[in-house]
Amino acid sequence: MSLNGADAPYRYEALAEIVSGLLDSGVLRAGMRAPSIRRIAADHSLSISTVLHAYRLLEDRGILEARPKSGFYVVAGGAKSRDTPKPSKPRRAPTDVTVSRGVLSLLDYAARPDIVPLGCAIPSADLLAAGGLDRFLARAARVKGRAYNIYTEPRGDPQLRAEICRRALRSGHALGVDGVAITNGCTEALSLALRAVTKRGDSVAIESPTYFGLLQVLEALELKAVELPTDAGTGLDIGALARLLAAKPVKACLLSSSFNNPLGCSMSDDGKRAVLALLQRHGVPLIEDDIYGDIYFGAERPKPFSALAPGADIIYCSSFSKTLAPGYRIGWIAPQRHMQRVLEAKFAMNICSAALPQAALAEFLASGGYDGHLRRLRRSFAENIDRISRAVDKSFPAETRVTRPAGGFVLWLEMPDGFDSRRLFDLAIARGICFAPGDVFSASKSHAHCLRLSCGHPWDARIEDSIHTLGALTAGLLGA
Ligand SMILES: Cc1ncc(COP(=O)(O)O)c(C=O)c1O
Repeated sequence: MSLNGADAPYRYEALAEIVSGLLDSGVLRAGMRAPSIRRIAADHSLSISTVLHAYRLLEDRGILEARPKSGFYVVAGGAKSRDTPKPSKPRRAPTDVTVSRGVLSLLDYAARPDIVPLGCAIPSADLLAAGGLDRFLARAARVKGRAYNIYTEPRGDPQLRAEICRRALRSGHALGVDGVAITNGCTEALSLALRAVTKRGDSVAIESPTYFGLLQVLEALELKAVELPTDAGTGLDIGALARLLAAKPVKACLLSSSFNNPLGCSMSDDGKRAVLALLQRHGVPLIEDDIYGDIYFGAERPKPFSALAPGADIIYCSSFSKTLAPGYRIGWIAPQRHMQRVLEAKFAMNICSAALPQAALAEFLASGGYDGHLRRLRRSFAENIDRISRAVDKSFPAETRVTRPAGGFVLWLEMPDGFDSRRLFDLAIARGICFAPGDVFSASKSHAHCLRLSCGHPWDARIEDSIHTLGALTAGLLGA
């Protein structure tokens, strides 16, 4: 084991990479004790804290687990044997979007307690409640309920906006309080961003596969989607973006900042800079969706595009829906030079967002409780992903490819071409199991042979049985 020649910038990352390599090569196996911290530190002239840092990183990724007074152990199944999905090859032409019909039923199923919730990317209410936000809402209603029974100023609650700016600064994104407007979730932020920079019939460049709600927004605004090839490890194909921009007029590019839904992939900082340089050269604004940025399993939160090129034409969108409160419907937008148009459109749609949830959220963030909650949530999601990956490994046919997300809480499964995940969906629903079929993640229906599993609920016997059932049904369909 040598740290020389490792790619990672920090020694603890290099060490974590090496230990992961031992797992992949089978030297370390499920259930085995990892080499002791003291021994590795002595053998490689590293400090104890560097080795501990590496092991904590692997723990966050769900690869090692600490056992009290005994050391670190390899989590059963930590080594992933499956190939990851192939880079996507979507249709290149601008495409009208028609996904809405296939999507709405997913939300209906998500609301039904009798259906196993592997469909919508909604975190379990129990995991979210652990943050304690409810208490702040109750208090805000009790103490200052009347004061919050108002329209807020057009941008939204100033204290909440200040808290959002304070947090953004930590990932290098400098925002002014007046540069942020509160929205009804990230969905409204994306819709306002698109309204600000496009008009009916325009084309928008997007990743493929991409989040179906984003496709629904394009559909509602009568915009066309131009889908770009995307790799499950490295993200958007920058060469394809360059060719598109040179050949066709797109009015905006809409990308996830990190942990694309459904692939879980992120671009490197250099990749993001290259995308920004291209867009700038062609005068195309970027709309970035950073909703999963806080759910990272590595040592650091990935930087949004906005942090890498201050002043570039970027509209930043996010929300608290994946980490804290999907039901509060609180998101935000930082549209820079497009603020006036955004506020006019927001006013025309709903004047402002509800005041009381904003006030409660502002108090919650100011209390300092959010960071601890996020740490626990990241661990839970990493563990859920790991458990479900291992169950997939055990139950699905050998040709199934699976993502290895470094953040977020969804898994993307790719079957051989020709597989119809809608047929699987119908069979699964009849057995009380929901997942998201692949056709809704693309305007050109390029991913009908894929499916997405949400890992937002803690592992239990019901989820385990469901994965086994899905695996058996898939094998049946492939064999038929
Ligand atoms: C990538 C992405 N963006 C936006 C949203 C919607 O966010 P919100 O519920 O805040 O409107 C989702 C929800 O699944 C998502 O996955």
